[in-house]
Parts: sequence; C-alpha cells; structure tokens
Amino acid sequence: NQDVIQSGVFKPILVHQNKTWDESLNYCWQNYIDLVSLSSQINMEEVINNTITSQTAYVWTGLRFMVGHWFWVSGDNLQYKAWSTVGEPQCPARNLHCGTLDRRRNIWQPKDCEEKLNFVCLMKP
Ligand SMILES: *[C@@H]1O[C@H](CO)[C@@H](O)[C@H](O)[C@H]1NC(C)=O
Ligand SMILES: *[C@@H]1O[C@H](CO)[C@@H](O)[C@H](O)[C@H]1NC(C)=O
Repeated sequence: NQDVIQSGVFKPILVHQNKTWDESLNYCWQNYIDLVSLSSQINMEEVINNTITSQTAYVWTGLRFMVGHWFWVSGDNLQYKAWSTVGEPQCPARNLHCGTLDRRRNIWQPKDCEEKLNFVCLMKP
C-alpha cells in the first residue's frame, strides 16, 4: 500500500505563529521544506493528530487555487480530497483561494489568503 510507504517519510509540523498563506509558505521554505500536502487519508489523519494544539480553528495547508484549479504547492497529486459534502469549490470567490484544514470538522475549507493562521509545514524525513 503506497500510503503506508509514504507515511514513513511524512513528517508534518504545526507552526504556532499566525501568518498569511504567502508568509506561511515562505516560512516553510526557509525553515523546513514546504507547506504540507494532505494527499492521502493517512497523511490527513496524521496532520489532524498533529494540529491538536493549534491556536486557530483553521490551519493553512499547501492547497491553492489558481488559473481555474486547485493544486498542492508541493506538486503532490490531488486525487484524495476531503472537502465538505458540498464538494470541491469549482469557482471560489476571489477571496477564497487558499486551502485550510478545518480543525473542528476535519475537512478542507477555502479561506482568504490574507487571513493570519497557524500552519503546517513538511519537515525533512
Ligand atoms: C494566533 O491567533 C490566535 C487566535 O486569534 C490567538 O489565540 C493566538 O494567541 C495567536 N498566536 C500568536 C503566536 O500570536
Ligand atoms: C491518530 O491518532 C489516533 C488516536 O490517537 C490513532 O489511533 C491513529 O493511529 C493516529 N493516526 C495517524 C496517521 O497517526
């Protein structure tokens, strides 16, 4: 099972700082590897477990909407999805182009990229 193999090198870290999505991405690039990708059920669960101490109800992930589609900044495949039951926002409002993990409902939520939230980076394995 590919997810199990991947989970061995998947090391998310919650950063207890409130930053915009762009600031978060830069912080991850400078201090770790990248903003995290929740590209499988097991990675999603690990990040849920990892963000129990988050100070904000939503935390930034590497999910971004640009030129008509959502993608992971890390380049990971966006096959696994965990949006609300409404499904993937096909044409999100201009101010909802960055993806969070909703810590209360454990689903992805699009948010205003300028909001300042805790965020999850990916560490070197
Ligand atoms: C981040 O924001 C939350 C919610 O507003 C706040 O409780 C927390 O203290 C802030 N964290 C930092 C490091 O400023
Ligand atoms: C997440 O935490 C639960 C409860 O402690 C545990 O059963 C589960 O194995 C953890 N999942 C991952 C992917 O770490």
